[in-house]
Amino acid sequence: MASSIIGPIEKKDSADWGLRTIRLQHRLHENPLFSDESLAALIERTPQSVSPIVLMPGRDNPKGSWGYCDRSDLSGEAVLEAIKRGRLWINMLKLEEVDSRFRDLLDTIFEEFGNAIPGFSPFRKTIGVLISSPGTQVSYHADVPGQSLWQIRGQKRIYLYPPREPFLKAANLENIIRGVTEEEIPYDATYDEYAEICDLEPGDMMHWVLNGPHRVENADCLNVSVTTEHWTPTTRRSFAMNYGNGVLRREFGWTPKSHKITGPAFWAKVGVTAAWRAMGLQQKTAFQRVITNRVDPNAPDGVVPLPTSPAE
Ligand SMILES: [Fe+2]
Repeated sequence: MASSIIGPIEKKDSADWGLRTIRLQHRLHENPLFSDESLAALIERTPQSVSPIVLMPGRDNPKGSWGYCDRSDLSGEAVLEAIKRGRLWINMLKLEEVDSRFRDLLDTIFEEFGNAIPGFSPFRKTIGVLISSPGTQVSYHADVPGQSLWQIRGQKRIYLYPPREPFLKAANLENIIRGVTEEEIPYDATYDEYAEICDLEPGDMMHWVLNGPHRVENADCLNVSVTTEHWTPTTRRSFAMNYGNGVLRREFGWTPKSHKITGPAFWAKVGVTAAWRAMGLQQKTAFQRVITNRVDPNAPDGVVPLPTSPAE
């Protein structure tokens, strides 16, 4: 079947799907859904409790931490203007629930994947749009589900690292999976020797290994990217294993040795995970977002600091 969004997927890439970094071409950047007008309307339809504006560290301070910015009562156009001139980032998630055009796009993308990649049939998938300021970066982090990044506007460089120690410590991944911390993890510049470095232009797409740590640097232009996330039986088992290990390590002081996603030890962790979540015990340890700035398209960085730091 001819693909309308994704370019040709070679056999060697479909065979290695999920096992190494895969680069493909796409046509999403030709879609008017990603014009300024359309993006501004989308920002207005997306509540900031779901998609907050994030203040990003500058490229000269890669270890700087993230902050959150209030955007209530601002038009989508004003927010977009602030992102164009500031060092900000908005990640609009689950757009298939907001706009049927994104739901159709998501369905088409995964239908095309399904036609080209034998056995790839996620039971859950989602689509988001990431808009970020010129010259900014997304700090070193790891994501929980399977991830693909589709470049729409602007250029960016992505650094991908192996999903193992020392680049990704088991305890850090467990904390991300359990929602104890956000996706950020400790970064060391010596890791770069092991990084896979890829430059993305509009029309480029990447998919990488599950939980693979990465960081991103924007070129000096506004960046618009689409992210798709997916869950398969394997990613769900990996989630349960890491969640169970995290409970055992953090709450019971054990040091889990196994990362198997089959067998009795794995199923015991599924039990631990289910019990822990069912008891609502996670609520006590979940992180809270703290809003430190207010979006302001007229300010040099696109934001002004708030006098106090109320918890969201
Ligand atoms: Fe990411």
